[in-house]
Amino acid sequence: MRMSLLLPLLALTASCSASPAARDTIADRGQLLFNGYVHKNVDCYVCHAGDGSGTWKGSNLVGIGEKENREAIEKSIRSGPGIMPSFEGKLTDQEMNELIDWIETLK
Ligand code: HEC
Repeated sequence: MRMSLLLPLLALTASCSASPAARDTIADRGQLLFNGYVHKNVDCYVCHAGDGSGTWKGSNLVGIGEKENREAIEKSIRSGPGIMPSFEGKLTDQEMNELIDWIETLK
């Protein structure tokens, strides 16, 4: 009885976690960062999906470069709005720039 309830629940939980984009399909440094390939604790893909298109845990970032300037995007990454964690101190300035450069290419 208990197992019959638990198994579908486990399957559901597993299907809800986003996977990163495949390592060998990524050339961009910013997308590598976004997908957790540079720092394990910088794992944007978990909520925003490997291509930035979003999941139920994180918003779709496609087109954000047209709505928000770099400063606003950086502020979100540093502060972590809503349920998003703060990434303050987890990225060098250069990495922050590479990450935002890539996010701004999402169209
Ligand atoms: C735990 C899930 C989670 C992770 C991990 C996460 N985010 Fe988010 N992010 C969110 C959610 C949810 C929002 C929307 C928050 C709100 O406005 O209430 C958001 C918002 C944003 C926004 C602002 C979007 C807008 O429309 O203004 C940006 C930019 C962003 N995230 C980038 C990133 C980047 C880059 C990373 C990795 C360094 C990251 N996020 C990691 C969940 C996450």
